[in-house]
Amino acid sequence: MKVKAAARYFSNRTIFYTVLALAFLLPFVFILTAVDTLEGVNDCSSLDCLRRRLGPRFLGWSGDDSTKLVKELYKILEQVNSLEIPDSEKFPESFSEFLSDMKDKEYDAKTFAIRLKAMIENMDKEVKRSRLAEQLHKHFVATSIPKAIHCLTLRLTDEYSSNSRARKQLPAPELLSLLSDNSCHHFVLATDNILAASVVVTSVVRSSLNPGRVVFHVITDKKTYPGMHAWFALNPLSPAIIEVKGIHQFHWLRRESIPVLKAIANYHGVRNHYHGNHIVGTNVSENPRVFTSKLQARSPKYVSLLNHMRIYLPEIFPNLNKVVFLDDDVVVQRDLSPLWLIDLSGKVNGAVEICKGEDTWVMAKSFRTYFNFSHPLIADKLDPDECAWAYGMNIFDLNAWRKTNIRETYLFWVMENLKSSVTLWKLGTLPPALIAFRGYVHPIDPSWHMLGLGYQEMTDTDSVRKAAVIHYNGQCKPWLEIGYKHLQPFWTRHVNYTNDFIRSCRILEPQ
Ligand SMILES: *[C@@H]1O[C@H](CO)[C@@H](O)[C@H](O)[C@H]1NC(C)=O
Ligand SMILES: *[C@@H]1O[C@H](CO)[C@@H](O)[C@H](O)[C@H]1NC(C)=O
Ligand SMILES: *[C@@H]1O[C@H](CO)[C@@H](O)[C@H](O)[C@H]1NC(C)=O
Repeated sequence: MKVKAAARYFSNRTIFYTVLALAFLLPFVFILTAVDTLEGVNDCSSLDCLRRRLGPRFLGWSGDDSTKLVKELYKILEQVNSLEIPDSEKFPESFSEFLSDMKDKEYDAKTFAIRLKAMIENMDKEVKRSRLAEQLHKHFVATSIPKAIHCLTLRLTDEYSSNSRARKQLPAPELLSLLSDNSCHHFVLATDNILAASVVVTSVVRSSLNPGRVVFHVITDKKTYPGMHAWFALNPLSPAIIEVKGIHQFHWLRRESIPVLKAIANYHGVRNHYHGNHIVGTNVSENPRVFTSKLQARSPKYVSLLNHMRIYLPEIFPNLNKVVFLDDDVVVQRDLSPLWLIDLSGKVNGAVEICKGEDTWVMAKSFRTYFNFSHPLIADKLDPDECAWAYGMNIFDLNAWRKTNIRETYLFWVMENLKSSVTLWKLGTLPPALIAFRGYVHPIDPSWHMLGLGYQEMTDTDSVRKAAVIHYNGQCKPWLEIGYKHLQPFWTRHVNYTNDFIRSCRILEPQ
């Protein structure tokens, strides 16, 4: 064996044993490297990292000779580190291939190091690629409507046209006045997912100490309206009052008359979303976590008109003073009537802040997280350290809201973002709301609203049990296969699995 660089100091024999020892250590290095890469903790896929891990102390050698030899090897590794590996050549794909390769061809130290580097880099690429494939798969699961939920909508729509009981007025005529009665507790939900809506409404009514005061306003889109209406007509939760509204019934809200909404719907990106072209413009060689968030930003959910509806609450409910707005991926576990007693001190939006908290991942969101501060428009107007708050469970003072121009600010910024080809922010309806509600937010106690159940497997079930409202924000919705199994029961216990429609669509209780 010819190891030129080291030849002056060592016999071939010493070198042979050193290389052999290194060879035994390599598999562990690969495992460590792969684990690091998978966890995304730090990118330990370079020779640098290998060099750090193979320090002399780690090798457990004390002899002068071998320390010198290792130093010499470092030097070579370091030289090779900055070298570009040629694409054309074929490199070993596994450790055993590498070993036999080495035995057969009697490499010099430099070639040894180059081949080692090439092999590590290849493996790193493989790990990244499979991680991306996993993310992509998850994304498609998360954005496609599960067959069972689609089935539920179709069957209930059918029921609406064939069964007069499914079409009966909601609520009954003698209860209509309660819809604008400010002594009741008004909840608003905007969704096209009937199963999710049934869980939210059921959980609110079951947790309420005074369900007779609960009034639910469920807003949905035109295609879901008949099914949604049929569901709540056939499954009333009296004494609570439930109303179903379709956005096509809001005659003041014509797309033509509201340029922003039209622009949102027409935005060319939207076409891609609906045609499933989720990968255009994303770069598969980037960090998987960044890639995931970009994919999420392309979900149809984030561009749907239904999702922007909440900015019209004062117009939709002209007679109401206060409403609680819930997302469709929450479960309510405590009586929420004390929310109406919170003094918002003149502010509009009672919300949980998400920039501080024990969970450093879910609860570490400032404006920096949501906005592109490289953009001058953002850098000029916003403070990157300002605390963000959460949608999902908010109490809105509509009277205070009516005295502001929150909606105009919101629509202005949505338009600006579209004009700048969506470079101000990526993700959905929260960023423009963060701007529009600036100065109008009253922080409420974090125990009211626990976030992160859809992207944080580590969520502690004890805290989940105690929270007033739990929120499955993130991809892993409890109604999807990819939902976290230990968190699903908090949601599924509000699903009526004996219901005929649920059963006929094969929505089964998880075992
Ligand atoms: C993709 O990302 C990698 C790493 O961040 C970068 O080197 C490369 O230039 C990017 N490619 C494109 C087309 O943006
Ligand atoms: C952020 O804004 C800058 C300046 O307009 C732009 O060049 C960049 O592409 C934006 N970044 C993203 C992620 O949109
Ligand atoms: C479940 O649905 C069935 C009708 O499909 C109804 O008879 C039953 O009372 C419901 N159970 C609960 C707990 O709501």
